[in-house]
Amino acid sequence: MNANDLKKEFSEIFDTNPERVFFSPGRINLIGEHTDYNGGHVFPCAITIGTYGVYAPRTDNTVRMYSANIPDAGVISFDVNALDYDKAAGWTNYPKGMMNELVKTGVKFDHGFDLYVHGNMPDGAGLSSSASIELLTGAVLNAAFDLGVSQLDLVKIGQKCENNYVGVNSGIMDQFAVGMGKQDQAILLDTNTLDYSYAPVKLGNHVIVIMNTNKRRELADSKYNERRSECEEALRRLQTKLDIKTLGDLTNDEFDEAAYLINDETLIKRARHAVFENQRTIKATKALADDDLTTFGELVTASHVSLHFDYEVTGKELDTLAETAWKQPGVLGARMTGAGFGGCGIAIVEKDQVEAFKENVGKVYRDTIGYDADFYIAEIADGPKEL
Ligand code: GLA
Repeated sequence: MNANDLKKEFSEIFDTNPERVFFSPGRINLIGEHTDYNGGHVFPCAITIGTYGVYAPRTDNTVRMYSANIPDAGVISFDVNALDYDKAAGWTNYPKGMMNELVKTGVKFDHGFDLYVHGNMPDGAGLSSSASIELLTGAVLNAAFDLGVSQLDLVKIGQKCENNYVGVNSGIMDQFAVGMGKQDQAILLDTNTLDYSYAPVKLGNHVIVIMNTNKRRELADSKYNERRSECEEALRRLQTKLDIKTLGDLTNDEFDEAAYLINDETLIKRARHAVFENQRTIKATKALADDDLTTFGELVTASHVSLHFDYEVTGKELDTLAETAWKQPGVLGARMTGAGFGGCGIAIVEKDQVEAFKENVGKVYRDTIGYDADFYIAEIADGPKEL
């Protein structure tokens, strides 16, 4: 998508002149799944597909928004001083929620604006379209109203918007990955301390293939919150004897020795995933730094197995993609990415094998599931920026 086309689309909808164009990425997570609300590590990166936004100020207090991805919703308007959640406001609750959270920090919006949004990532695919829109809004408002809010604060505000305003109890990974993204780098984030570092994603002659199940996943409707409470309950039981704050505080051995305290098969499986996945993430980042791609790929695959059998958030679609991917030549590893229950997986595939990979995995998926999967090559991108 280029800036001029986007500006033209803006003018057609709003019948006025656009001023500024912004882009905010989506994200994939390489490893470290369902660890961000368990005090563990995550290892995501921003990607070149995401959400574009075209902005122009207004002289009155009206805000008008339009999404090319949801044309049926038409132009949605609200007053810059009436920022309460409104179900009828649909997708605009994300940008509106960002404004609302910013106002809570003391920001004042002294005029309205028009915002045209156009995303090029597959809808509902679990590549964080919501975090992408939140951080897009953050970038637009920060620049247009000269707010001077740091990128890290925008990330935190994005999570608050999701948790308090939209009402989804997610961790900080998505907003962090989108907001702090860097080209060709993954982010190792300790969600307990918010310490983070960048790590080059050097995959030699391999690329990351995103595999889209085309099965929509709705985070709010899913078992996401159930998993969160299961982990909280397991932690509470461990804390009767152990002095720990999160599941991320434990090594694998420490967990095994203390697991009897949990005394429930399901809760043990959930907590074991959280603990082992955190340790796996630390190991995987080390393997990648050491150019040990074989170990990195094995850990990526092990993550899926744990998400399948212990955490039980994969489902037939994601399992079919991952398990078929593992059997293909030139594949180092494959797993689901994001919350699960549908959405996307990733596979690390030798460049020369990508076409055969898509064809073979695509065929097995179609034969097993009854409709097509889609495949894209992931390119690792910077965080939000003005074009
Ligand atoms: C969703 C949430 C994240 C994280 C992942 C699972 O993407 O928004 O905070 O919990 O699921 O790793």
